[in-house]
Amino acid sequence: MYHKIMEISKRRGIIYPSFEIYGGLSGFYDYGPIGSRIKQNIENLIREFYLIDEGCMEVECPVLSPEDVWIASGHVENFTDKLTECTKCGEPYRADHLVEERLQRSCDHMGISELNDKINELGIKCPKCGGKLDGVYDYNLMFKTYVGPGKYKTSVYLRPETAQTTYLSFKRLWEIGRKKLPLGALQIGRSFRNEISPRQGMVRLREFNQAEIQFFVDPDKKESPRFDEVKGIKTKIIDKNDKTFEMTIGEAVENNIIGIQMIAYLLGKSLLLFKRMGINSDLLKLRQHKDNERAFYSVDTWDVEYDSPSLGRIELVGVSDRTDYDLRQHMNLSGENMHVEVNGRKFIPHVIEVAYGIDRPFYCVIESCFRGDNGRVYFSFPPNIAPYRVAVFPLVSKDNLPMKSIEIFNMLRKRRILSIYDESGSIGRRYARADEIGIPFCITVDYDTLKDDTVTIRYRDTKEQKRIQIKDIPSNIQY
Ligand code: GAP
Repeated sequence: MYHKIMEISKRRGIIYPSFEIYGGLSGFYDYGPIGSRIKQNIENLIREFYLIDEGCMEVECPVLSPEDVWIASGHVENFTDKLTECTKCGEPYRADHLVEERLQRSCDHMGISELNDKINELGIKCPKCGGKLDGVYDYNLMFKTYVGPGKYKTSVYLRPETAQTTYLSFKRLWEIGRKKLPLGALQIGRSFRNEISPRQGMVRLREFNQAEIQFFVDPDKKESPRFDEVKGIKTKIIDKNDKTFEMTIGEAVENNIIGIQMIAYLLGKSLLLFKRMGINSDLLKLRQHKDNERAFYSVDTWDVEYDSPSLGRIELVGVSDRTDYDLRQHMNLSGENMHVEVNGRKFIPHVIEVAYGIDRPFYCVIESCFRGDNGRVYFSFPPNIAPYRVAVFPLVSKDNLPMKSIEIFNMLRKRRILSIYDESGSIGRRYARADEIGIPFCITVDYDTLKDDTVTIRYRDTKEQKRIQIKDIPSNIQY
């Protein structure tokens, strides 16, 4: 299935490897004309959920930031993967991945000495040439570069997460948000990690997209006023001791499996969001990070994971309690006072973070919506995710049918509905082309249209066709 999806993606302009004419570079993908539309729709759905429902503000910050930012955040010291290299051919590997492949279970919590022991114990050799593997060491994933010439030259890093740049302007956001907690700030943008072995297409990229929301909260108030909206959602839950539960989010909080109500709320909300994107909910589950797997800044992290039929376990979003770690670190290094005063109490707010990738959910939307049965290939994207809402076709390209079709196309344009017009090839071929990029509605103009102003509307998933008035097209393509 993976190869079929990637083949259609390349052919139809959804996604394809970057720098192809120069032989490509691992970990970089282009979004083509169709993929860009879908990606932006995914981002807009996240915006809608957090700006409209949660009252968050949106910020946009540079992707390059001075070294001090990353010293303060702890990334210069701690943002590392465990690397091993072949002593014979020099090929680098993520040590935890090599051990994971052999043991068939997650090993991203293992430390350097445990990984060294496992590699020796299991006799793991270089998968490429069979050579001996060298000792495991910490490899920093950030890209370093410089800004400015000569004596003005400053060391900077490409950000490995958007979060830090949002924290830097916390005091401004506090003023702009009228000094109220919780205060939510969303940032959608590019992040960069010099991954050791980018693989599986969109799942591990070196330049990727994130949508991260930082909720600044009172340390004593980590509940959610709208918990009722998610508490009935039933899902699979795996805690940090690998215990598995099948229960509602409400039950998980009642039984203290998810200890922080606000984290539970944001996980539930993410499940709803992924479902709205078109991701198959049956393949989603919640998984808590083990104590030795959690990022250095977090005291509790839960992921929503998707069990991909083609690529295995994929982490789509992480929800973490980052406490006051980041604000305190930036306060200590920059000297900016990050305390706030609420009802006479002075404290540094805690951060509950929701960190979505965009590229991984993008792949999971494509995979979940792919239908390849009985020789017919289409993507069943929800209309709000589909690259175009409507395709308009004249039945044949003569006898004024194209003119009438273009009139309809222009009517849709005036209503700001993104549509395509296509008159080349047989009508069957045109339906197939529209299906292959997941357009939910096709409008066909035929000879009856010229007589009675009716058209045929065809629904992608069922192939059902209905005769409707031209004036009723907009109300028939709502979602
Ligand atoms: N600010 C917290 C943070 O960055 P993370 O779990 O490292 O947390 C958040 O990343 C999300 O970003 C992940 O759940 C994943 O969807 C996405 N992501 C992380 N690394 C990625 C990579 N190399 N390629 C594509 N997506 C990635």
